[in-house]
Amino acid sequence: MNTKIEQLQDKIAEAKAGGGQKRIDRHHSKGKLTARERIDYLLDEGSFEEVGILVTHRTTDFGMENQKFYGDGVVTGYGTVNGRLVYVFAQDFTVFGGSLSETHAEKICKIMDLAVKVGAPLIGLNDSGGARIQEGVRSLGGYADIFYRNVQASGVIPQISAIMGPCAGGAVYSPAMTDFTIMVENTSYMFVTGPNVVKTVTNEEVTSEELGGASAHSTKSGVTHLTSENDVQCLEDIKTLLSYMPQNNQETTQKLPFALGTEIREELNNIVPDNANKPYDMRAVIDGIGDTNSFFEIHKDYADNIVVGFARLGGRSIGIVANQPMSLAGCLDVNSSKKAARFTRFCDCFNIPLLVLVDVPGFLPGTDQEWNAIITNGAKLLYALSEATVPRISVITRKAYGGAYDVMNSKHIGADMNFAWPSAEIAVMGAKGASEIIFKKEIAEADDHEAKLAEKEAEYADKFANPYRAAERGFVDEVILPEQTRRKLIKAFAMLEGKKVERPKRKHGNIPL
Ligand code: HXC
Repeated sequence: MNTKIEQLQDKIAEAKAGGGQKRIDRHHSKGKLTARERIDYLLDEGSFEEVGILVTHRTTDFGMENQKFYGDGVVTGYGTVNGRLVYVFAQDFTVFGGSLSETHAEKICKIMDLAVKVGAPLIGLNDSGGARIQEGVRSLGGYADIFYRNVQASGVIPQISAIMGPCAGGAVYSPAMTDFTIMVENTSYMFVTGPNVVKTVTNEEVTSEELGGASAHSTKSGVTHLTSENDVQCLEDIKTLLSYMPQNNQETTQKLPFALGTEIREELNNIVPDNANKPYDMRAVIDGIGDTNSFFEIHKDYADNIVVGFARLGGRSIGIVANQPMSLAGCLDVNSSKKAARFTRFCDCFNIPLLVLVDVPGFLPGTDQEWNAIITNGAKLLYALSEATVPRISVITRKAYGGAYDVMNSKHIGADMNFAWPSAEIAVMGAKGASEIIFKKEIAEADDHEAKLAEKEAEYADKFANPYRAAERGFVDEVILPEQTRRKLIKAFAMLEGKKVERPKRKHGNIPL
């Protein structure tokens, strides 16, 4: 064989060997796949085309000129997932701990630029010791080049970040600016400053896992949207997530084959309890409405008083935002408002219609909420929904009280269709609180205060604890039987498919951040 061909084959084999077998074995011993194994698992068989396999770093300090690995710690390229084009980078921890050099960053930027030009999702598999220490500011510049591109790509193509090892310091800000972050349990962590710095500055003793592991970020901070048991599950979750999204902001989502049948779901009639103060699981409503097993929940363990996620309805992707009466009685608070606002904005960026399921007694009271800016944060959700131009439909299953009624995709903030179940209660506040205020005098003057209050409460409830006042005004388009919900929604979303909204010209709005 031609020696030049052999030379090339040797280089490629060397590149594919990463940091060498010893480092690969060490990596495997932690239960982690290598960068190439991850890409192989993620992409359709044989679809991966690598870009920049022979890139090496340009550093000469600290004897680095004698330590070069082809690829420089990151595998980049493109391929398909379920037949659809994606761009991917996977940091290779076996080469300089996956640390980010100037050239490593250039490789990532190159595929980010291609992804935006072509209009296909970008997937980053992060596993890195951070800035390449031997390179100093050139590495920091490389990070900033990526951050800048994350922002330019935001709302143009979907960006997904998997954290499959360390991700520390400023490096966390690239995933933070992408649309979704997925962390692998026990083998990944994210923090701006690690346990040593924390100990020095605050005297707190904390492990990496406690400080920034998947559990901390899925329950406490909400930084990660999903957690996965291991690398394989994480890659599966990325594939599932992609299946609900279009390729870019000019496309709509794929539609799976579907023929409309009766679509009556009698089980929906039995979910809301007679007693309006009894909780029920809103996920049962979601399951009853969506296509079988199609609900993919996002941010499951964070702010669980609101449920968000993707589902399919008659084969189409939709985003669902739903109050959850099982937690905090479904009240809106700081975290749930932020969670739902973020999800709403993703769906709106990428033309995914929104279904909002409403059972909300109001905003959560308390100093904690007020001092943590429930005003500003509640406004985020109000703003995000008001701004969304995708088809938007609400179903009020039970309570829709006070300001929260307005916020939860009311007709007044631009919802296209609003349905209510017969169990809906739409009013300024609950019957007891309302009666105590407006009948204060009458109750005080009555011989039996309790009996008077009960009488007035019943009177108020009779007037307002139903959907009919709202339906008379057209704030609710139709009061429907729960069993009809799926059918009504399939038809309404199909009707709204051609929705177009022109907004006045402006640079951008000013969402209350
Ligand atoms: C260069 C690095 C490196 C780095 C690790 N390595 N991190 N090389 N720059 N940042 C190399 C190690 O020298 C080692 O090389 C190999 O990667 C594996 O590292 P180990 O320490 O043996 O692995 P492990 O025990 O698993 O520990 C992983 C680790 C640790 C926790 C990530 O390596 C670590 O603490 N690294 C430094 C992290 C850091 O401080 N980075 C800078 C953060 S600041 P050999 O040749 O022995 O295999 C930052 C700013 C970004 O990132 C700012 C953006 C705006």
